Amino acid sequence: MAHSLYQRDILSISDLNLVEINRIVELAQHIKQQQSTPWLNGKILANCFFEPSTRTRLSFASAMLRCGGQTLGFSDVATTSGSKGESLTDSMRVIGDYADVIVLRHPNEGAARVAAAATTTPVINGGDGSNQHPTQTLADLFSFAECQTTLTDLHVALVGDLKYGRTVHSLAQACALYNIRLFFVAPEHLFMPEHVCNILRRQGVKFSFHRSLSDVISKVDIIYMTRLQKERLLQTDDTWVNTSWRITPASLHHAKPNLKIFHPLPRTDEIDYRIDDTPYAYYFTQAKNAVYVRQALLSLLLQEEIPHV
Ligand code: NCD
Repeated sequence: MAHSLYQRDILSISDLNLVEINRIVELAQHIKQQQSTPWLNGKILANCFFEPSTRTRLSFASAMLRCGGQTLGFSDVATTSGSKGESLTDSMRVIGDYADVIVLRHPNEGAARVAAAATTTPVINGGDGSNQHPTQTLADLFSFAECQTTLTDLHVALVGDLKYGRTVHSLAQACALYNIRLFFVAPEHLFMPEHVCNILRRQGVKFSFHRSLSDVISKVDIIYMTRLQKERLLQTDDTWVNTSWRITPASLHHAKPNLKIFHPLPRTDEIDYRIDDTPYAYYFTQAKNAVYVRQALLSLLLQEEIPHV
């Protein structure tokens, strides 16, 4: 019988259980050590990006090529029939016949689910509006485990635009599986949305709200920074654009020795460039690790047998 990840859609982090997430993370650890996964010869990945991306699109392409597969796709919707008015459903139905797996990024919440309903080809959500970014979370969990040698019982601060940031919505939900304690640090108008908080309450996640990083700096193992999601703000909300939060070397005086700073990137001005050369910086390793995690995920989605490692 095929394993449970074979041919699956990955639309939300809550689609995956603890065993499945651990399986992806462990395979990624093996791939990082061995550097060789020629498991996907002849398979094709379609990168369908209706929104800008650097890391997600290119790390999926890199992962597929490193696994021996090939890629096609688009990153400028103006070059597609979407600009002529074609529906997402029709596009996905057709692209599903051209590829073995689709990675979709789209500005609309729920777009990945619409795509998955249109084709039997597995769809991976590469970010749908402010909603979810499940494969970023898989990469984040891999990197948490790598830098802290465990995933359980960590103390993690999520900082910045918690209202519109899809990476933190996915990550917060995954933290329930590992008994991770969360500290939300954000201006009041960018707090974690109530619907996400309600899910966390139901899951028994411990979390608290803070206005300033200095309130929590001595307690946390990981600071997860995010940028203001300017593209999701309403045009009329000028004041929001002036919101800022920033880590400088001075912010870290009371940090724990094991503290690591994460950011899904791109950074705007939330992390002072002087942090890059400190032992606290982990964001570039986090970005690199995303390739191993995406290799592991693609290998599991596209192979009936779990790769022999
Ligand atoms: C994030 C995204 O697109 O949600 N980037 C990424 O995929 N690494 C974060 C962001 O754009 O702020």
